[in-house]
Amino acid sequence: MCGIVGYIGTSDAKEILLKGLEKLEYRGYDSAGIAVRNGEDVRVYKEKGRIAELRKVVDASFESSTGIGHTRWATHGVPNHDNSHPHQSETGRFTLVHNGVIENYEQLKKEYLSDVTFKSETDTEIIVQLVEYFSKQGLETEAAFVKVLELLHGSYALGLLDAQNPDVIYVAKNKSPLLVGLGEDFNVIASDAMAMLQVTDTYVELHDGEIVIVTKDDVEIKDIKGNVIERAPYKAEIDASDIEKGTYAHYMLKEIHEQPGVMRNIIQKYQDEAGNLLIDPAIVKAVRESDRIYIVACGTSYNAGLVGKEFLEKWAGVPTEVHVASEFVYNMPLLSQKPLFIYISQSGETADSRAVLVETNRLGHTSLTITNVPGSTLSREADHTLILHAGPEIAVASTKAYTAQIAVLSILAQVVAKDAGIETGVDLLPELAKVTAAITSIVDDAETMEQIAKDFLSTTRNAFFIGRGMDYYVGVEGSLKLKEISYIQAEGFAGGELKHGTIALIEEGTPVIALATQENVNLSIRGNVKEVVARGANPCIISMEGLEAEGDTYVVPHVHEMLAPLVSVVTTQLIAYYAALHRGCDVDKPRNLAKSVTVE
Ligand code: M6R
Repeated sequence: MCGIVGYIGTSDAKEILLKGLEKLEYRGYDSAGIAVRNGEDVRVYKEKGRIAELRKVVDASFESSTGIGHTRWATHGVPNHDNSHPHQSETGRFTLVHNGVIENYEQLKKEYLSDVTFKSETDTEIIVQLVEYFSKQGLETEAAFVKVLELLHGSYALGLLDAQNPDVIYVAKNKSPLLVGLGEDFNVIASDAMAMLQVTDTYVELHDGEIVIVTKDDVEIKDIKGNVIERAPYKAEIDASDIEKGTYAHYMLKEIHEQPGVMRNIIQKYQDEAGNLLIDPAIVKAVRESDRIYIVACGTSYNAGLVGKEFLEKWAGVPTEVHVASEFVYNMPLLSQKPLFIYISQSGETADSRAVLVETNRLGHTSLTITNVPGSTLSREADHTLILHAGPEIAVASTKAYTAQIAVLSILAQVVAKDAGIETGVDLLPELAKVTAAITSIVDDAETMEQIAKDFLSTTRNAFFIGRGMDYYVGVEGSLKLKEISYIQAEGFAGGELKHGTIALIEEGTPVIALATQENVNLSIRGNVKEVVARGANPCIISMEGLEAEGDTYVVPHVHEMLAPLVSVVTTQLIAYYAALHRGCDVDKPRNLAKSVTVE
């Protein structure tokens, strides 16, 4: 979703900003812009489409060592030049970039700015016009900025330039992510550290409600009342090579191939020196003390939660519910006496999940965030955190985070079970080692998955995934992956449910991808396949060694049934990837989507 960068220092700001925006491309955007300043001369360049288009309109000869930049994912107003950021106040004195959504912008416009001519349809423009409004009333820029922040309802990360105070970037945040990066003779701002790793690996977190005065030599964080806040910086532990594609054609393909390494990393990070699985005892205690777990997440993380629920119930013995965050926040079920909330989020910034966390914090309930990003908002605001150790996930389509989430949840459930004296009959470490080997054999066999994608999905308009039990959950995830990057309408169904309505959509040649890795439902799912074949479907059966039957399309290596999702999902990821590739889709930047969904 929208991304912000800013630079104030001595080098060429344009190039640093443009490179920073390129690093934020993965978040999803539909227009981009930068504002750069030389003394009181502030130039704004913006363009619909990719950063490459923006580069074409930037005047390379304009010298500047200060600026702000933005990638916009349209919410208020279509993606076009006028709605792109940065936005300027009526006189051009103030220039602003904004992430988030201002809920009361129409009301503020009516109340304060009826005489102002707006150039865009955005909620953002109200902010920059209001700063000018209060500055015309005699307030210093910082005071005007604070006054505006007090009026705003909603989420924001902001970077503001004032042509009359050329040595400052004014910064503020509420509910939208923003960091300040520190350097020698320069400082930067960025929505995430990856954008500015090119110049610094040292960052300071900002908290909601804070404003920051950033100059080339200093960063001053204040609360809304003006009290100065001291906060120690941290080193972003991201290897620059982790955020490059290397020899892979796409980040998604790279990240699918990284999954064996991610499994090994997780096994190592969640193990003590004696080779026992290890989870922070405070987290184990929180799970054991809860009478019901509520997993809250969105998209792929929700799908991982469905699998995690099985571990927590079947191994750890704790009743568990899985909820879509955007629904849960407005329609909370009757909660148990001692609930534990588990937030699963690759980015740790998803606004829908965060909205629930804010509410459960208000209610005083214990929370655990499972995320790939240490220091992310959901991590900071929850009582406990488990890190995925998957390395940066850049592709919009989540792959390695899903398998990492499931692996971490399996370890959590096993450690809790052991602590509670529950005999699960599963020796997880060797089982995860088998999973790692199985994933390796599948990614090594990517050509077969490419052929399956060609055979089943090259021309189809729609496709169905069916499965039972764990396979149903994988089918739901497989269908999400396929639809988001290939635009094939794909749905995941419980095998037995299709005949209750959806089977009406099966026509001659409709691809039905059936997952068959669970022994207790193997015969039933194969019966469901026969039902759709009888109606003309083209079945693609992905089974597991030991349960295979003649004619199966692909057989994954045998692993423990409960862990089969970690393996079978990789076939669906690769099939989705190749289907999208052969249909000419932009795999890493699917239309309309954002990597990190920071608006509700
Ligand atoms: O960062 P999060 O895990 O909270 O993101 C949740 C979803 O937005 C995300 O999983 C989304 O569904 C992916 N694009 C799926 O590939």
